[in-house]
Amino acid sequence: MDALGFARYLNTPLPIGNKIISGRMVLAPMAGLGHIAFRELVAEFGGFGLLFTGMCSAKAVPHENPSISPVFCWRRQELPYTVCQIFGATPDTMAQAARRIEQEGFFGVDLNFGCSVAAICKKGCGAVLLKTPDRAAEIVAMVRAAVSFPVFVKFRMGWSDDAAFAADMAKRFEAAGADALVFHPRVAPDRRTRPPKWDAISRVKEAVTIPVFGNGNLFAIQDGMQMTAQTGCHGLSLGRMAVARPWIFAQWTRGKSFDPGIYHATALRMASLLEHHYDMPFNLKLFKKYAPYFCANFKFSHFLLKQLNQAKSMEDLKKTIHKLFASCPETLSTPNRNLFL
Ligand SMILES: Cc1cc2nc3c(=O)[nH]c(=O)nc-3n(C[C@H](O)[C@H](O)[C@H](O)COP(=O)(O)O)c2cc1C
Repeated sequence: MDALGFARYLNTPLPIGNKIISGRMVLAPMAGLGHIAFRELVAEFGGFGLLFTGMCSAKAVPHENPSISPVFCWRRQELPYTVCQIFGATPDTMAQAARRIEQEGFFGVDLNFGCSVAAICKKGCGAVLLKTPDRAAEIVAMVRAAVSFPVFVKFRMGWSDDAAFAADMAKRFEAAGADALVFHPRVAPDRRTRPPKWDAISRVKEAVTIPVFGNGNLFAIQDGMQMTAQTGCHGLSLGRMAVARPWIFAQWTRGKSFDPGIYHATALRMASLLEHHYDMPFNLKLFKKYAPYFCANFKFSHFLLKQLNQAKSMEDLKKTIHKLFASCPETLSTPNRNLFL
């Protein structure tokens, strides 16, 4: 498949539950990175089918005030293409949260059965639920019964390297009423140190009739083509590469090319969107979370990152962005992954 054929494939509409998405390339959920400001930046470039929020606590969602919550907040315009991800431990809390998310007008809800961070697993949430398949399926069933909009499940391989287990979980999720799966083929608690096992995506895809999005280490367009050809997955979920290059959706699905000025413009736009949506010092802190992914695009990434990290105010930050990126430093064809895990 060439780039044009791949773009055509990515732009093929895909039914999910009772809705249809216009494209098959989606932004993966990322806590601390997939916030309202970043989603606005991605939306300005376009080319995606859906955007996922970072994970929100299902316990908190029913009572959250979007005008003060840093995570459970959105722009009205993005609701038709945004999926809110939640983590929780009980069917009831997850169902109540999903109900609120549906009432607010999101495209759908995504249930997190993939996060293997100790703080989340200790509370009985995230990937630890894959140790109790009946409970995980019960959560999906309760959420399904509570809402009529699309229900996604994001999960990973499980706690041992066993693609048959993942395929079995996929079947259980489908039987419990999930409308689509997003599968990250890594074993918990591996946090992206070992390569994901794309073959397991094929096993999951073959086990169910609902759409399956493949996720994990999609960095170059060839990776996207290979994952699609190798696994037959229905769509691609991109995380870190979309943070490094938020225009990647437009690039892969619309064949758009961008001149080197895009880096300077993007860093400045990210800073001003963060200023618009958040106050100091939180906006600066969020920029510093984004900065390793942005700087990974350049040859002297460590030096550039160090400079950005020294900023003490948003004003300071914008001056540093001008100084470093107004004439574009030497870029790398794929980002330097030593800068982020
Ligand atoms: C900083 C960071 C935060 C993440 N937060 C979440 C999250 O809130 N929910 C989730 O399901 N996955 C989360 N992930 C995992 C990603 O969704 C994705 O599965 C992973 O990064 C692999 O995809 P990639 O290789 O395209 O980055 C996070 C990943 C990163 C790097």
